[in-house]
Amino acid sequence: MSVLINENNKTYTLYTNSSMYQIKVDDKGLLLHTYYGKRLDYSDMSYALYKGVPGFSPISSDFNIYDPWDDTYSVCNIAQEISTFGNGDFRNSALNVRFADGTLGFEPRFVSASVEKGKYKIPGLPAFYGDDADTLIITLKDKVYDVYIHLYYGVFEEYDLITRSVRIENKTSLPIYIEKALSMTLDFQYGKYDLISFHGKHAEERMFERNHIMHGTNSVSSTRGASGHMQNPFVIICDENAGEYSGNAWGIALVYSGSFEINASKNQMNDVRITAGINHENFNFEVLPNDVFCTPEVAMVYSDSGFDKMSGCYHKAIRNNLCRGKYKLARRPVLINNWEGTYFNFNGDKLVSMAKDAKELGVELFVMDDGWFGKRDDDRCSLGDWYPNEKKLGCTLAELAKRINDAGLKFGIWFEPECISEDSDLYRAHPDYAFRMPGRNPSRCRSQLVLDMSRKEVRDNIYDQISKILREVNVSYVKWDFNSHICNVYSADLPASRQGEVYHRYMLGLYELLERITTDFPDVLFESCSGGGGRFDCGMLYYMPQVWTSDDTDPVERLKIQYGTSFAYPVSTMGAHVSASPNHQSARVTPLKTRGAVAYFGTYGLELDVTKMTLEEKEEIKRQIAEFKRHYDLIQNGEYHRLISPFSNDSNYCVWEVSSSDGKEAIVCSVRNKSEANYANEIVKLKGLIPDKYYRINGGDKKYLGGALMQLGMPIKFDFIPYPANIYHLTVCE
Ligand code: GLA
Repeated sequence: MSVLINENNKTYTLYTNSSMYQIKVDDKGLLLHTYYGKRLDYSDMSYALYKGVPGFSPISSDFNIYDPWDDTYSVCNIAQEISTFGNGDFRNSALNVRFADGTLGFEPRFVSASVEKGKYKIPGLPAFYGDDADTLIITLKDKVYDVYIHLYYGVFEEYDLITRSVRIENKTSLPIYIEKALSMTLDFQYGKYDLISFHGKHAEERMFERNHIMHGTNSVSSTRGASGHMQNPFVIICDENAGEYSGNAWGIALVYSGSFEINASKNQMNDVRITAGINHENFNFEVLPNDVFCTPEVAMVYSDSGFDKMSGCYHKAIRNNLCRGKYKLARRPVLINNWEGTYFNFNGDKLVSMAKDAKELGVELFVMDDGWFGKRDDDRCSLGDWYPNEKKLGCTLAELAKRINDAGLKFGIWFEPECISEDSDLYRAHPDYAFRMPGRNPSRCRSQLVLDMSRKEVRDNIYDQISKILREVNVSYVKWDFNSHICNVYSADLPASRQGEVYHRYMLGLYELLERITTDFPDVLFESCSGGGGRFDCGMLYYMPQVWTSDDTDPVERLKIQYGTSFAYPVSTMGAHVSASPNHQSARVTPLKTRGAVAYFGTYGLELDVTKMTLEEKEEIKRQIAEFKRHYDLIQNGEYHRLISPFSNDSNYCVWEVSSSDGKEAIVCSVRNKSEANYANEIVKLKGLIPDKYYRINGGDKKYLGGALMQLGMPIKFDFIPYPANIYHLTVCE
């Protein structure tokens, strides 16, 4: 059992393979946080808690105010396990609960603790799962009112993963109002830390950024009703000198796809506090008597040796204990998507001819992207009208799918279920289904509005339309897109006093719809998308095992995008396609080999008009698909290592590697991403090999000692062309 309860000194200690997390109840019933870091033998870690009362720091109402030096501490400085506003702690709070009398002064005190085998579930929300995990539940109660906080902890020993979620239960006879419902507080009383976050924009997601945690609050957030391209709901807190292979690092990932905030703040005593959860902007949730509010889950991984180990833990946990369904571990088909090949300009014959050519190259699935429904020939109409444009296709959808199937490929299709065009039959029939504020013109993203997924009748309408197609047509794959963020946040279904619930109710509604559709169509592979990687988060991965990583398919840009994404998310979740050159987003010209090499470290697919390719190009694609399929298991199931960063100004190439878990095989991808004259020698230190075994590289005669390849490195030779790439396959000599 990974939870150790010591009743004598009231400590609750969570153990994973390499980490230890400790909570303690003090003699007044306050829940203190004593330690989160490297695994140690059991000890009550509270001895080091800072107990000073700096000037202008309140002490708790439990202490004798006339004798403040008698073993007291300030609630404003002590490390707390969950922080609430209004009780004297002026740091960032996690939970702000306003009682029916208007007060906002929650004082949580310990009630009970219990341990359960298996991982807790969160009603209506995505979460890591696993029968082998353990759950610790700690219940606290406000000193005055019958309002309870249940803190849930899931412990996955093997992945050094600890999850947290909070339930707020109202046992009073009046409603309460939650003004902030974050999922965690994590206090560090000593040390200097950096915050690493992943910012971006459309077509440039998850750019690595590292800063010292400064005094005040450093916040990573979204108020867009979606996690968004601009900030990812994942950060790393680390020692100032931590790197890929050394130092303490704590990953904080939200299992949530809506507006979020992750805050790292430093106070006047240099204490650092992390809070994370639903963004409190425009959030206010009424909880009726006997009702419960559940926060989303936060997934924390601690590594005692840098980011590589932390990422490895997330990769395994996400693949094995977050993703679900038939395709979570199974080999997924190599697909071709027609978007960049045709955009809106296609008909059925064109798609079939692309499918036929793609089949020759080894492609297994054809995906028809945007433009097949309603009267849609551009992005200004028809979202919401999920019936085929048979005139454009030249046949029914079932017939088109059959033609693609007859060409030897599975058939996949694009939907944007959460959005609606004002020029659509659905909007004309139900204008109230869209988010709009009464009396105001709406703001629009990409000329469209967002459907109010908090309403059941809206979800049912979309479910009925999509499920009809999935039942009647032989569909093997769905791309679930979302090309807007949520403006005009107003639900026609809720009273004025509850409009602060809309953002979160939207997410609950969307998750319910996704659960329904993915459960009812278990054989369909679902890929999440939001203008590329605008909703690449653990919430979406619970329903759909892969995400279209970015609308930017330029392989040189993709180095940064995929490298940044890899800090939390495994290769198997990253949609990656070979597209045409010059690239449609950046105009960059790159070799086909480089485009393939980068796409291997994702789901690998094509996104171009194959019918326009030369014979030579087709031969190269054929070779790539065969190579990708040959190395599929290694790439998807192996251990991913970042070796040379594309974000570094000190190198002009980027290298990553995947090694098999037994160390007998590895595949390395190197790409020159900057051009200069008079190159220096290039060598890269590999990871994950067996030090005393010899390896061949790409089947060559020469043998290299594993230890040497890791300590001294493997020389890299690039062709003298723009943006060359190499794939090195290492196999152990038995
Ligand atoms: C988004 C997606 C693209 C494509 C278009 C279609 O931008 O990210 O891949 O599906 O929508 O409109």
